Amino acid sequence: MNQHPAAPVIAIDGPSGSGKGTVSRRVAAALGWHFLDSGALYRILALASKQAQVEAADAERLRTLAAGLRIEFKPPVAAEEQILLNGRDVTQAVRSEECGKLASELAVIPQVRESLKNLQRSFCRAPGLVADGRDMGTVIFPDAGLKIYLTASPGERAQRRYNQLKEKGLNANLPALLRDIAARDARDQNRAVSPLKPAAEAVVLDTTGTDVEQVVATVLAMARSRLGLKTG
Ligand code: DC
Repeated sequence: MNQHPAAPVIAIDGPSGSGKGTVSRRVAAALGWHFLDSGALYRILALASKQAQVEAADAERLRTLAAGLRIEFKPPVAAEEQILLNGRDVTQAVRSEECGKLASELAVIPQVRESLKNLQRSFCRAPGLVADGRDMGTVIFPDAGLKIYLTASPGERAQRRYNQLKEKGLNANLPALLRDIAARDARDQNRAVSPLKPAAEAVVLDTTGTDVEQVVATVLAMARSRLGLKTG
């Protein structure tokens, strides 16, 4: 679909642990734009399916479940927004590795991807949107004015995930995270529908050994030059 977004979009895609969540949030905050964490939608659906005991094989029930999700993102309490599912706070639950793994498994199902499309596009509102995910630039916002593909070595991504989980007081085991990242990369990159890959016109940034401030500054400089934005 070659849609004409209601507002400018910066699409930031990349694998798990590439830093796209942190970078996207900071870029959105610097611009005063909206932010879409599309991975959170897959994670929320994963949690809802577990609670409703809907199997991954039951694509039709998953589609119905996705259509009925009542999701709210509350403005950042600390670094990340609070997530409510049907009025219940699920912020911690959706961030677990178990939920991420199930989200990645559900994300291979074409009906699931289709059922979340309009919801993702509804986040595009003035003055603009920074969209974080796997297929923001390739499928959801193909007309995005700036497309970034962030990546980093698997070792560094596992270490970042480890640090994030520890900071949140969640369980973390580095060798297990490295194995999970490899499995998640393989599943996300090799699925038939909307696989994880840079859009043809994406700027690929390898953030291995680069601190987050530097990456944010690079993305903001590109937003200035390509979208004609004033970012201070
Ligand atoms: O970014 P994340 O780790 O929160 O995403 C969890 C899973 O959701 C990821 O492994 C694959 C899936 N996902 C996707 O398929 N497409 C997106 N745009 C975002 C996430």
